[in-house]
Amino acid sequence: STVYLNGEYMPMSEAKISPMDRGFLFGDGIYEVVPSYNGRLVGFAPHFDRMNDGMKSIGIELDMSHDEWREISEKLSEANGAGNLGIYYHVSRGTDTKRTHNYPAGVKPTVFAFAFEIPAEPVADKTKAKSYSVSTSDDLRWKRCNIKSTALLGNVLHYQQGIDDGNQECILFNAEGFMTEGSSTNAYIVKDGVVITPALSTQLLPGITRLMLLDILRKDGSIQVEERPVSRAEFDAADEVWLSSSSKEVAAVVSVDGKPVGNGQIGDVWEKAQALFSAGKY
Ligand code: PDD
Repeated sequence: STVYLNGEYMPMSEAKISPMDRGFLFGDGIYEVVPSYNGRLVGFAPHFDRMNDGMKSIGIELDMSHDEWREISEKLSEANGAGNLGIYYHVSRGTDTKRTHNYPAGVKPTVFAFAFEIPAEPVADKTKAKSYSVSTSDDLRWKRCNIKSTALLGNVLHYQQGIDDGNQECILFNAEGFMTEGSSTNAYIVKDGVVITPALSTQLLPGITRLMLLDILRKDGSIQVEERPVSRAEFDAADEVWLSSSSKEVAAVVSVDGKPVGNGQIGDVWEKAQALFSAGKY
C-alpha cells in the first residue's frame, strides 16, 4: 500500500525512519485516526483540532494546515482503493542523534500517514449489527488520557486483557470505582432510556465519535443524554452498554465479563442512536 512520510508518497515497504526517532524511543508523539468511507472523511475538522491541541500540549511545533492534512487524506484514500478506510496520522517529535529525555532543540517532527481497512459503516439494525463482549479492569493508565499520545502501552495491555479473556475490548474504572472509557473506545451506559457517559476530563480521550454522537442526540432531542460519573453499581445495572470510536461508530456491548447486559441482546436505544448517528455524522 501507499503511505505518506515527511512530504512524500511511497510504497509502505520503502518508508523508513531512524531508530533514533523519538516516536520509536519514547513514544513521544501524537496520532489521529480518521474514518474515510469511499473518500468521504468523517469528523475531519474536529480530528485535526484535537491533533493540534495534542501537539501544543506536548510542545511539538508543526506548521501543517487543515488543507494540507486533507490533501494527504485524499491522496491516501485514492491510492489505497477508496473503500472503507481508517487514515492514521502520526507526528513524532523527530529524530535526534542523542537519547535525552528533554525536548531536543532543532529537530524536525516526523510526519507519517497510512490507510488501513475498517469495517463498513454499521447498519442501524439490531438484528444484523455486530455486537461486542468486553472485560472490565481497574484503569492502570496515566493521568493525561485526554492526550492522544502514541505512547499506548497502557492501552495495549488493557486491550490485550480483553482479548485474553475472549472478548473484544476492556472497559476501565478509576480508583474511585467510576467508569472512564474503553482501552480504545469511549464508553456509555443506557438506563431507562437515558444515555449516560462520563464528562470529559484528563481520565479519558475526548473522542470525536463521542463529540458528534452527543451533538446529534442533543439536537434530535428524542433521547436524553447525561454527562456525569457512572459508578460500577450503575454500570452493572445498565440496560445497554455502548462503545464508540472512529472505526466502530456506536457499538453495542451485549456481554460484560461473561454476563449478559440487560437481556443479552442489542438494545432499542442503540438502534435509534446509531440511525441518528449515520444520518447526522459530519
Ligand atoms: N482509538 N478512547 C481511546 C483510548 C481511543 O484510543 C479512542 C480511539 C477513542 C475514541 O475516539 P474517536 O471517536 O475519536 O476515534 C476513545 C483509535 C481509533 C485508535 O487508537 O485506533
